Amino acid sequence: MPIDVHEGSQTFHLHNDVLSYVFAVREGYPLSLYFGARVPDEPEFDYLVDEEYRPSSVGVSPEREYLSLEHVRCEVPFSGAGDMRLPALEVVTAAGGRVLDLTYRGHELSCGKPALRGLPATYVEDPSEAQTLVITLADDVAGVTVRALYTVFSGRGALVRSMEVENSGQATITLERAMSGCFSLEEDGFEMIQLTGSWARECSVARSALHPGIQGVYSARGHSGHQSNPFLALVRPETTELSGEAYGFSLVYSGNHALTVDVDPYHSARVLAGVNPATFSWPLAPGEKFQTPEVVAAYSDEGIGGMSRTLHTLFRSRLARGPWRDRPRPILINNWEATYFDFDEERIVEVARVAASLGVELFVLDDGWFTGRDDDRGGLGDWEVNEAKLPGGLAGLARRINELGMDFGLWVEPEMVNPGTRVWEEHPEWVLHAPGQPLRPCRHQYVLDLSNPEVVDYLYGRLERVLGSADVAYVKWDMNRSLADVYSQSTPPELQGRVWHAYALGLYDLYDRVTRRFPDVLFESCCGGGGRFDAGMLAFAPQAWTSDNTDAVERLRIQWGTSLAYPVSSMGSHVSASPNHQLFRETPLKTRADVAYFGTFGYELDATRLTQGEREQVRAQVAFMKEHRALIQLGDQYRLRSPFEGDGNECAWMVVSAEKDEAIVAYYRILQQINVGRRALRLAGLDPDARYEVREEGAPAAPGVMGLRYRRPLTGSELMRVGLDLTDESAGKLSSGRGDFLSRVFTLRRAGA
Ligand code: GLA
Repeated sequence: MPIDVHEGSQTFHLHNDVLSYVFAVREGYPLSLYFGARVPDEPEFDYLVDEEYRPSSVGVSPEREYLSLEHVRCEVPFSGAGDMRLPALEVVTAAGGRVLDLTYRGHELSCGKPALRGLPATYVEDPSEAQTLVITLADDVAGVTVRALYTVFSGRGALVRSMEVENSGQATITLERAMSGCFSLEEDGFEMIQLTGSWARECSVARSALHPGIQGVYSARGHSGHQSNPFLALVRPETTELSGEAYGFSLVYSGNHALTVDVDPYHSARVLAGVNPATFSWPLAPGEKFQTPEVVAAYSDEGIGGMSRTLHTLFRSRLARGPWRDRPRPILINNWEATYFDFDEERIVEVARVAASLGVELFVLDDGWFTGRDDDRGGLGDWEVNEAKLPGGLAGLARRINELGMDFGLWVEPEMVNPGTRVWEEHPEWVLHAPGQPLRPCRHQYVLDLSNPEVVDYLYGRLERVLGSADVAYVKWDMNRSLADVYSQSTPPELQGRVWHAYALGLYDLYDRVTRRFPDVLFESCCGGGGRFDAGMLAFAPQAWTSDNTDAVERLRIQWGTSLAYPVSSMGSHVSASPNHQLFRETPLKTRADVAYFGTFGYELDATRLTQGEREQVRAQVAFMKEHRALIQLGDQYRLRSPFEGDGNECAWMVVSAEKDEAIVAYYRILQQINVGRRALRLAGLDPDARYEVREEGAPAAPGVMGLRYRRPLTGSELMRVGLDLTDESAGKLSSGRGDFLSRVFTLRRAGA
């Protein structure tokens, strides 16, 4: 079993083939002892308990002054008792203080993994897939009981933690901080990797050595944010994509998060992950409970890539739900960059007709289909079809799309409202707005108060009506502004500290109801691109729009960074027009597709303007993706060459099938260089002893200039150690070669398979 409990030594060892996580109860306090690569189980690990007395520290009691919580590593660190670091739990007690003494009371073991009330979470399909340990801690004076939940999966290097806090006293208490989990590493010899950025520049990889004090990522904008993805990794300085230790922490949450690493003066590193305490204050009446979101901790000694693959398979198969979970995704065309708001039914059908003739499977009608929406200044909130644009309504348009042999998809942005709509006029109290304060716009829109169940009911009713009114196979659920004026007009003053988190819970409730009502619909989340690309959303929408930036060169960095935590199958990626609409850069159609293949794949351009030659190219791209999408979206991804390292001029990644029979490799070179000599790309993840037939897509069949020079199948070990030959023979001849923004895609197939 993955969890061994040694009652005599009160030691808990959570493990599987990959990792071990050990803690033990000492003097009533559960103390972290080890988290890392798997070690054999032993009846005790007492030598790991740090009992050294250090001067000038606060003891836990007069009789036990030798024990200071500052020097041990509590599993659930709490406020006010001598541990001077930021705690996982901080409570204002009925007496008005913040002093706690949470001690161990017992534990329970069970097979499988329980669901989390009101929150998205990883799950199992069979109880044998995981084991769960719940340890109970309590403080009878403060009236606080905590159940800390640990699930360890068998066969995955992943462990999941969350907490439930109960007011077990007689008077109201207030949670000021209730983190999902605390992970203590004995030393600080790590570098932190975070995903930073901004709108159109999501998930830039930043790696820096840990330093004393607090570092980390957070959001205070009501959604996880373009700026700071709810993920961080700790890696050894020598860790690369393919080797070395990597710990990844991913919060399954879409609201304000905080993931911090606190390096203390004794060089231990405390990772805390959970709801951002800065915007959280949660009163709990006697008997009430608070459930935190969960945090996933992945461990790998196979590099950053190993950590990513652990998260990818977990998120793809045991976080995402519904029939689309295991299915390759439809190839779509979206009209946003083709028409923006300027369309009518005929124009849409024209674009769709061309796309259908090229093999595209799904047409997505983006923003602008509803009343009051001819630009981004109005219309959000009522969700009535604009019959001037769409005389046949959504049903009529969907029928025409279906007649072309395509499914029909639709854009919505339910959480928002514009002035001038009926809902705005009739329900000003449904808008987040603090009394007497100005109302602050963003993209001319305001935020509906999803902490109010009445608003959630209203939106559910609208969505049910819209999605039920036509044959809708796909929904793009957008959210185009950060929250400000966070004050719920339906909530009493003393409960306003709940509103940020209650908004997230209302959103989850809405998503849950809508996805259950329309179980076959494929949902894609969106937030002005990747502003809410997080594990919480993936539980409802198995894919997300990665960025509003569709430039192929920029997308290399965005998709590379996003893939640190999230699987290829989750990354919305489209081929758009050239020059690109965000950067005005011109790139070859081939390069745009070669980048977009590594995601859900689709087009976002005016197909009617494609030349005959381009149409043939698109037809071939669609056929390529149909043939290979199961491998690309459901295979194992290996990142090979980072656009964030060196001069950033190159990028390469590959996917390999589970049986290692097939692989697809993509190499991108941003600017052409001259007279560079032989070049090779070392591959990964292959069977070293197998022989692979290697083909370059779109290259002449015979070996020679501009194509591969191989005259025989290559062994996996040659490909991984010597490397795939990338020599561009044209580059030394002052010919135009293949120019800037080059991409090359190679398919590998086990010879004889
Ligand atoms: C956001 C999305 C875009 C598009 C527009 C429509 O910016 O990210 O893809 O849907 O809204 O207004």
